[in-house]
Amino acid sequence: MNSSPAYSNGYHPQQQQHGMSQRDKVRRGTRARSRELRESFGSGGNFGGLRVSEHNKQQQQQQQQQGAPCTDFDMAYFHSYAHVGIHEEMIKDRVRTETYRTAIMQHQSSIAGKVVVDVGCGTGILSIFCAQAGAKRVYAVDASDIAVQANEVVKANNLSETIIVLHGRVEDVDIDEEVDVIISEWMGYMLLYESMLGSVITARDRWLKPGGLILPSSATLYMAPITHSDRYSESIDFWRNVYGIDMSAMLPLAKQCAFEEPCVETIVGENVLTWPHVVKQVDCHTITLHELESVTTNYKFKSMMRAPLHGFAFWFDVEFSGPALAGTNNHAPSSLISNHPVDGQQRKKRANPNEALVLSTAPEDPPTHWQQTVLYFYDPIEVEQDQLIEGSVTLSQSKENRRFMNIHLEYASGGRSFVKESVMRPGFSAELSG
Ligand SMILES: C[S@@+](CC[C@H](N)C(=O)[O-])C[C@H]1O[C@@H](n2cnc3c(N)ncnc32)[C@H](O)[C@@H]1O
Repeated sequence: MNSSPAYSNGYHPQQQQHGMSQRDKVRRGTRARSRELRESFGSGGNFGGLRVSEHNKQQQQQQQQQGAPCTDFDMAYFHSYAHVGIHEEMIKDRVRTETYRTAIMQHQSSIAGKVVVDVGCGTGILSIFCAQAGAKRVYAVDASDIAVQANEVVKANNLSETIIVLHGRVEDVDIDEEVDVIISEWMGYMLLYESMLGSVITARDRWLKPGGLILPSSATLYMAPITHSDRYSESIDFWRNVYGIDMSAMLPLAKQCAFEEPCVETIVGENVLTWPHVVKQVDCHTITLHELESVTTNYKFKSMMRAPLHGFAFWFDVEFSGPALAGTNNHAPSSLISNHPVDGQQRKKRANPNEALVLSTAPEDPPTHWQQTVLYFYDPIEVEQDQLIEGSVTLSQSKENRRFMNIHLEYASGGRSFVKESVMRPGFSAELSG
């Protein structure tokens, strides 16, 4: 398609095949992303369609050593991103999209006249923001068929001279020059779900000039104990009296169905029992693929109030700082075990306008399509003010499908201890949550 000698992409501007039934499957609203992902990205490669399977062969032929091999699960994952609904949901998330645009404009001096790679460009929106900020050239890479649309959007905005759409995996496409900037919106639920950060690392190690800019530059995953009686009652206590009938026999099944897997839902600051704990800090300049395979943290909370403890909520933020602030510890792998409580002082500092721009998904901040992820207990624990809640959590990529995340949670309070195993996978209980 493009005549620049700087790349080879295997991009063919064919029309996507959208059957009515597939289009009908697209659901709108805040849960579209997870629901869509369940419908195809969990299907183990049963994605069909000539365009995708031809592309699969091509990608396998082109496969290079730099990144993970492209599995059928990956192909299903990319296929899920071909639906318009998932992109509509992300773009309509104004907190997300406007923070990215503001970050790009804040870093305009590092982008203008420079070469950018957009890892997972989707519809091309971030690539276009970078072009608007004066980028000399933007490589907009996406393995999903949404790249076909991105190319049309780029053409319609007369940006084909600046933005080169590469339809393929970041791990497979060729860009024969170093880049000054990497931009990517890679964050999944609980930050690490979807395992897309690995592709940003691959792009960094393949193309980024020393001292180059990565947006976002860092990310932090938090957890905190929560109380949420309304939610618990709605799903569980409901069965105690149904139209005057004692349906308590349903309780074990109701608990299992509602709380076996993580729930993506919105909580508020009042649900949170104490300051959060940092599960993992990611410096995008130094993080390694190996570090992402498994993350373990030990936590210790002291409840600030007397309340039933229903589980733990997880959320994240990402920062958009320049190379001077980020990556000061180049090539030193960050710790696999972090144990940093975040006090009120630290959280207030984040609101300081002189500090790096932050995209937050915290319960006290404006809601985003990521909401929060909650691991509910099957039975609440009554905690007193100042009572300790301690344990550990391990998040690891599933061996079966690295896009899934295994969660091993250990928790103890008031002399009782528990273990909960769960798997974060597409769809799960988001659709059941209130
Ligand atoms: C969360 S969406 C972001 C889309 C767009 N950047 C935006 O902000 O609206 C992530 C996109 O990255 C693509 N993607 C994920 N991993 C990729 C990889 N390894 N190579 C190419 N594209 C990838 C997906 O197909 C998807 O379109």
